[in-house]
Amino acid sequence: MRILHFGDVHLPLPPGAMRLSEMLHPKRLPALLNFWARRGTKYREGVGKLNALGAFLRAHPADWILYGGDSVNFGLRGELIAAAPRISSVLEMARKGAVTVPGNHDLYTGRSVKDFQRWFSFGNRNERPEVAVAQGGFPRVRFLSEEVVCVTLSSSLPHLAFWNSSGRVPTRELEALKRVLDDPEIGGRPYVLILTHYPLDEAGFFHGLRNANEVAQVLHGRKNLHLLNGHNHAPYSRFLPGTDIPVHCAGSLSKKGCESFLVYEPFGGSLNPRRARYSKAAWTLEEA
Ligand SMILES: [Fe+2]
Ligand SMILES: [Fe+2]
Repeated sequence: MRILHFGDVHLPLPPGAMRLSEMLHPKRLPALLNFWARRGTKYREGVGKLNALGAFLRAHPADWILYGGDSVNFGLRGELIAAAPRISSVLEMARKGAVTVPGNHDLYTGRSVKDFQRWFSFGNRNERPEVAVAQGGFPRVRFLSEEVVCVTLSSSLPHLAFWNSSGRVPTRELEALKRVLDDPEIGGRPYVLILTHYPLDEAGFFHGLRNANEVAQVLHGRKNLHLLNGHNHAPYSRFLPGTDIPVHCAGSLSKKGCESFLVYEPFGGSLNPRRARYSKAAWTLEEA
């Protein structure tokens, strides 16, 4: 089985997306200055890199695609409407299906949350709808095969200050996660993937997961877990501190100079991650 994991595309602002009524939100004006000053130029080729991912998938099909969110920059309605078909057309290339979570830039303001739910309804199938407790129907469970199950959590939420890009797994959702992992049908599978936007092992106050320590308590001592995240724009693989639980970050598909996504081929208890790199308008997978 081949699983492709990507996210943090941060597609460029489409023409006409900046409507005055939305841009007057107190968070967006300083964020826009920051975007023009330094952020926007690093991601401006996102559409081309996404199209190149489509070409890669045609040549090297994936059974499943896991998508970690942050499709846009400001959660504007025009951005979300333009981004949705671009992202979904790539996810539809998976042979069996796709699983998605929202990023903090998708749920930028309270209004973005509603727009996101309307336009980004793909990849959110839940095979255990009875466990859903949080906004957007999380946690969600998707059985990828007899051996592999993917549980998703919503860790992104809107903030008023643009410099606050922290996340949080709501307490109710965390309690539901415990119940999900205690279920032998789910937690007993040889591979239990937990897909989130935020890294579950980073408690940084302004950019991390505010309740990372609480989350770690739920995860400690459990077997077969693999934590998959984005939000950090450079990829890495490491272990949840004090455990042998692997953590894999897909990085950003589009950030100039460190473009990446990961491909997993579960075998022998490992996901065996391989990083893809972008050069000359094409993606290539590193050798195992
Ligand atoms: Fe991001
Ligand atoms: Fe993010």
